[in-house]
Amino acid sequence: MRKPFVAGNWKMNMDSQTGVDLAKAIADGSADLAGTDVTVAVIPPFVYLQAVGQAVSSSGVALGAQDIYFEEKGAFTGEISPAMLKDVGCTYVLCGHSERRHVLGESDEVVNKKVLASLAGGLLPILCVGELLEERDAGKTEQVVEQQVRAGLANLGAEKASAVTVAYEPVWAIGTGRTATREQAQEVHAFIRKLLAEMYDENLAAEIRILYGGSVKPDNAKELMSEPDVDGSLVGGASLKPDAFLQIIQAGV
Ligand code: 13P
Repeated sequence: MRKPFVAGNWKMNMDSQTGVDLAKAIADGSADLAGTDVTVAVIPPFVYLQAVGQAVSSSGVALGAQDIYFEEKGAFTGEISPAMLKDVGCTYVLCGHSERRHVLGESDEVVNKKVLASLAGGLLPILCVGELLEERDAGKTEQVVEQQVRAGLANLGAEKASAVTVAYEPVWAIGTGRTATREQAQEVHAFIRKLLAEMYDENLAAEIRILYGGSVKPDNAKELMSEPDVDGSLVGGASLKPDAFLQIIQAGV
């Protein structure tokens, strides 16, 4: 069975002290989850990975990075390699977050290279997909999501695909306070799982975790995560407040 997974994407927020304080509060607050099956991760900005990693090191909270570069090393000023992320203790890495796609112009091809490089470097990628509001309004949600999933996982064999997590984050729900309804989330998650079964097989599709992201808050987390194909949440704004994030984790248990 799939373990629930709650991850906090801090985006470009916090400073070193507030980041460490937040990480410690999450580590302390989730200590009593030790016997449960939930996976918890914090995903701070690159520059705070090491400090935050230390703050959660003796807890069950995992560390993730918000992005990665697909080359091993060399003249790529400003970029961070898979080995560097491993070196500072990362387990997870976001690939193709909507802000990277839509604000920074990242293509499906680049996202795919990042997924493959993450796995080759021993990291677990979280492939983010999701449609714009105009795409949803035009009835193109499935088409857009299918393209992003197929392209993001291109050239990825079945033996490695189970290490991938998919995050469905409708762009219109990110940071807007307008979350998808549980029915809207379930519909797209079930579609993604069916697609994964077509691309791989039913058993593998049943193993891959699909997280929902987009204005997840303590008051909507439980209903979203109680849908059969919603295996957890990728949380932005609410992951910056320990109480809110801990309540969301609790909702996923
Ligand atoms: P919000 O929870 O702030 O809407 O952000 C969602 C997100 O983009 C997480 O990656």
